[in-house]
Amino acid sequence: MTDTKSAIAVIGGTGNQGSGLAMRWARAGHDIIIGSRDASRATQVATEIIAMAPAGSKWGNVRGADNFSAATECQIAVLAVPYSNQIDTITPIAGALKGKLLIDVTAPLVPPKVGTVQLPEGGSAVVAVQKMLGEEVTVVAAFQNIAAQHLADLDHKIDCDVLVCSNKKSAREIVIDLAKDAGMTGWHAGPLANAAAAEAMTSVLISINRAHKIPGSGIRITGTPAESKG
Ligand SMILES: NC(=O)c1ccc[n+]([C@@H]2O[C@H](COP(=O)([O-])OP(=O)(O)OC[C@H]3O[C@@H](n4cnc5c(N)ncnc54)[C@H](OP(=O)(O)O)[C@@H]3O)[C@@H](O)[C@H]2O)c1
Repeated sequence: MTDTKSAIAVIGGTGNQGSGLAMRWARAGHDIIIGSRDASRATQVATEIIAMAPAGSKWGNVRGADNFSAATECQIAVLAVPYSNQIDTITPIAGALKGKLLIDVTAPLVPPKVGTVQLPEGGSAVVAVQKMLGEEVTVVAAFQNIAAQHLADLDHKIDCDVLVCSNKKSAREIVIDLAKDAGMTGWHAGPLANAAAAEAMTSVLISINRAHKIPGSGIRITGTPAESKG
């Protein structure tokens, strides 16, 4: 497990992507705060995650809170809400995120054509978030290409790598460690602006899923030194 002993708040942690990450990090021993617009819904999801821990296992603490309290009480926050609500969700909690690291998993899908790349004006959804929050919040983009059903199945090996983009290398390293704790390999994928590629890739993968009837296709980085020896 990474030595990041800090509480991780998952804003929108009642949803598919957020709850999947939360349960995997809880299993790795991280303390988790599930965030929601409705604290009771967050508590319900936290209770469900706690119930998944086998007796005697050393899962982290999991609790629920409203999004603002979750953002206030964490050291690392994860934004896991639909793209259409990304900015509206972040605006009221921006002050609570100052000095912290925010991992944004948003893929800017625009229904109904979610299989078509439709990047926002400015090129990237997460770059817009960093611009809005300012430099006092370190934003990292990751996990846009991991299908939620893979996260939810804890016995399942996730066959998809994680592109980790941020303007700070130290922040990317923290998220690469968190990807490992959740059972995935993360890669330094460059500055935050490069997240446009991962955001676009989500629509490409959705199109592949539909055409080839794959429940959740993924990507792999090849050409590593270990592979070239083979
Ligand atoms: N699902 C995937 O396979 C997947 C894969 C890669 C990336 N992503 C990205 O991860 C993010 C979350 O996806 P998801 O599938 O987990 O979404 P989701 O289940 O539809 O929603 C996540 C949470 O967002 C909150 N939410 C929903 N509507 C909202 C609104 N109108 N205003 C504010 N909050 C609202 C809800 O929390 P409360 O009602 O409890 O507040 C909900 O539980 C998206 O940006 C998506 O692109 C998802």
